Amino acid sequence: MSHSIEWSRAYAGRLAEAENVVAVRSGGLMDLPILAEWLERQCSAGELPFLTMPYRDRLEEDMAAVLPRIKGYKHMLVLGIGGSALGARAIQRAFASGQDMPNHQGPSLWIADNVCAETFEALLDKLNPTESVVVCISKSGGTIETLAQYFLVRDWLRQALGENWREHMVIITDQCKGFLREEVNSHGFISMEVPDYLGGRYSALSAVGLLPAAFLGIDWQALLDGAYDVARPLVEEPSALWQHPSFALARWAKALEINDYSQLIFFCYIPQWATFGPWFAQLWAESLGKDGKGTMPVPATGVTDQHSVNQMFLDGRRDKGCIFLTSRKPPQGRSFGQDLPEQWAWLRGKPFGNLLEAEALGTRMALCKSQIPLVHIEMSDTGPRAAGSLMMLLEAATLLTGWLISINPLDQPAVELGKRLANARLGAPGYAQEEADLAAYLAVSQQIQEF
Ligand code: PA5
Repeated sequence: MSHSIEWSRAYAGRLAEAENVVAVRSGGLMDLPILAEWLERQCSAGELPFLTMPYRDRLEEDMAAVLPRIKGYKHMLVLGIGGSALGARAIQRAFASGQDMPNHQGPSLWIADNVCAETFEALLDKLNPTESVVVCISKSGGTIETLAQYFLVRDWLRQALGENWREHMVIITDQCKGFLREEVNSHGFISMEVPDYLGGRYSALSAVGLLPAAFLGIDWQALLDGAYDVARPLVEEPSALWQHPSFALARWAKALEINDYSQLIFFCYIPQWATFGPWFAQLWAESLGKDGKGTMPVPATGVTDQHSVNQMFLDGRRDKGCIFLTSRKPPQGRSFGQDLPEQWAWLRGKPFGNLLEAEALGTRMALCKSQIPLVHIEMSDTGPRAAGSLMMLLEAATLLTGWLISINPLDQPAVELGKRLANARLGAPGYAQEEADLAAYLAVSQQIQEF
């Protein structure tokens, strides 16, 4: 049984009346043939590897070589940030949540994606280097946060393990370029590659997200299979783009955009998949927030966030669209006893899972009654193959939305400034202009209120 998207309430609110939506909706876009041609050209040129997956054979070979070498470790410590961390975390939480449960026995994955000295110290303090493999992930091989952690962990390993420390380090980075690749070459670390053109936020289904998944015993090949199920029609028949669900999502996102909807809720009613929310938020925001365009992704989890941000969704500013995610077969769990007090008698004998279903329906209907344009994605199940399909659907929708709103969804120029300024602050050479800008910024007289 396939997954589905329900569209009957997608073009609600201002979208129901806007004339500009007609062309977008009907698929009668003037630029459709151009888009299809563009897709075909980029696929053939190898510039969209997240869709075409030419790296799969090599990945399978590398996995076969690397997995036996890391199998004996109890802990994997991933150093990475942004697209080099969020996919692994989403997959971990969805399919290997045991680590958060009592009496966990199996392998554990720790993802260090911040520069909090206290947390980092606590982690290194608790981990035993002998039982740990460190996986340093950076496509560019030059991200300061990741490299800073790498330098510290390198010392930590070396101090504890002497000459053997190198065997505890795996690097996932560009196949030829960057500082980390040089480190691989000089230390002989185990390494895996991030293929050309596979940018961070589109790389979860490469070694970046799949080596941690495989370490945890997750069926990483099923994730790839599910992704390719969705990508195949786009890759094999780009001219049929207009029929693809990712393109329908992109058209809808464009309709939101041109009608002043500025926020896109990602309401996940598959609780064990909640961490796909932050993964999607980074994918969508870093890809589409450009030239004053894009909608702000707002991840939310059902039912938890019904008691948090939902009031704002329902009755705050009318600037939100919603992707609403459910599973057709949510687990039902145990049932309520027959001895429930009279006032709760209507729950007697019902499985716990009924709550999630009922509340998902209730919230969805309430959102629709508030005229929020809502697309309902229903997954046929919650296994890794289904997750791979969802990830690919959202990645393709992000790419196509970028093309429809005329921005490049594969770069992230705006975030570079903060990085350059931080480098200047830390004394890196070659940032004279940034140093001067920082001095001017800090020279402004402050207006301080204490509390
Ligand atoms: O999606 C992106 O491209 C970014 O979020 C990167 O993943 C992030 O900046 C880390 O980059 P790198 O993998 O080069 O260390």
